[in-house]
Amino acid sequence: REQYDFVVVSNRLPVDRVVRPDGSAHWQPSPGGLVTALEPVMQTKGGAWIGWSGQPDLDFEPFDSNGIRVVPVRLSALEVEHYYEGFSNGTVWPLYHDVIAPPIFHRDWWETYVKVNQRFAEAAASSCNSGGTVWVHDYQLQLVPKMLRALRPDLTIGFFNHIPFPPYGIYSQLPWRTQIVEGLLGADVIGFQRLADANNFSRAVRRLKGFVTKNPIIEVPLVDESEGVRAHAPVRKGQQFRTVVARHFPISIDSAAWEKLARSPSVQARAKQIREDLGNPRSILLGVDRLDYTKGIGHRLKAFGELLSDESLTIEDATLVQIASPSRERVRTYMELRDEIELTVGRINGDFATISHTAISYHHHGYPREEMVALYLAADIMLVTALRDGMNLVAKEYVATRFDDDGVLILSEFAGAADELKRALLINPHDIDGLKETILAAMAMPKRDRQARMRALRKRVLENDVDKWSTEFLRVLTTSRSRGRKD
Ligand code: G6P
Repeated sequence: REQYDFVVVSNRLPVDRVVRPDGSAHWQPSPGGLVTALEPVMQTKGGAWIGWSGQPDLDFEPFDSNGIRVVPVRLSALEVEHYYEGFSNGTVWPLYHDVIAPPIFHRDWWETYVKVNQRFAEAAASSCNSGGTVWVHDYQLQLVPKMLRALRPDLTIGFFNHIPFPPYGIYSQLPWRTQIVEGLLGADVIGFQRLADANNFSRAVRRLKGFVTKNPIIEVPLVDESEGVRAHAPVRKGQQFRTVVARHFPISIDSAAWEKLARSPSVQARAKQIREDLGNPRSILLGVDRLDYTKGIGHRLKAFGELLSDESLTIEDATLVQIASPSRERVRTYMELRDEIELTVGRINGDFATISHTAISYHHHGYPREEMVALYLAADIMLVTALRDGMNLVAKEYVATRFDDDGVLILSEFAGAADELKRALLINPHDIDGLKETILAAMAMPKRDRQARMRALRKRVLENDVDKWSTEFLRVLTTSRSRGRKD
């Protein structure tokens, strides 16, 4: 095995193996915010990225992809079903996103989750040099920190949770709530998107383990680790303990790179072309999401449809472009969501579109980054209406690309990004009337106001970029570990 000083572990690799219907296959960029954020970090830092190819039963040798060393973990078809589609995306994902969809608790899924997490831990253990650093990512791998510490106590272990961590009242529904908390506490630093997530986690630790938490530090008694699972084991006087830092580190994007792409003449020309192709509506509204029930796509469509039906808007006034990239298509809730969204889009277009103007331009596929940036530049209003979202990097991408200081961001207060992007028009997506009013207000907003807001937003996004995020996380990780050694 090749060994590295720095290893990242996540379920997804930066590239995804896609098999076409004719049986031919190719690698393409992976979907989602985790890869968007981590890819530039790994391109600068080097090291290896351990993960799953996106295909069952696929074995391949480590290879270089865009300057990143990609190292595979193989999953069988049944493991994909139970660990990825089942426990990760049928149990944890809905539970951690405010139970927007009901989480399903299956003991078989849990058992496979444990087994697969062990495999990721073993892959990390055999890929990391002595005294090296492993950074584990996201809800699919919450048991890896503890498993890895047991295999390799010499390593410094970080964990970052890209999605929310729910309040205890919700979290405590999980039959394996104690094991997950113990799994995460194997890390030296546990990172969350928002302060609220870190606080929710600390509370779960206090309730389930009785450990002392002095924000952001948690004291984990060493005896608890050597003796295995115990319900309550607060640190007693004179007992030895290890410290774990649980803190928030809001994730971001490579803001300068997105801006650079937006400044390229071909992308700007394409943005103009998009406006023309849409028939030059007065306003272009844009939504860009994975097709996921957490994103509030239905709420957005409802608001837009009502604005047309109550004649507050005509289709000459506004066109909505909705990119809904395919996601987790074998999970039932995602199949049902797709049917629901496409039915609604079809109804709205059927009712309001004319031969020359469409109401909603709907796309169920991803686009290359250049095309996305052209869309951001063409969009007068960006709609981020998530019902719950760890961060939402699309909101940051929109802001980073608007070097013209124009465009209005409508942003859900339930997305982590709302903690930082306070000069966006913040909305409650459940309040359809409020959302409708905000869309009309955005369309009527004078240019000076739009620019003042966008300048303030851009300042935040350009200053707090992904390099700052990873540097800060790794700085805290290094210092926390050296304190642990002294103890
Ligand atoms: C979110 C999650 C990631 C995940 C991505 C795409 O951003 O935080 O862990 O990779 O969605 O979802 P997928 O299931 O396709 O990996």
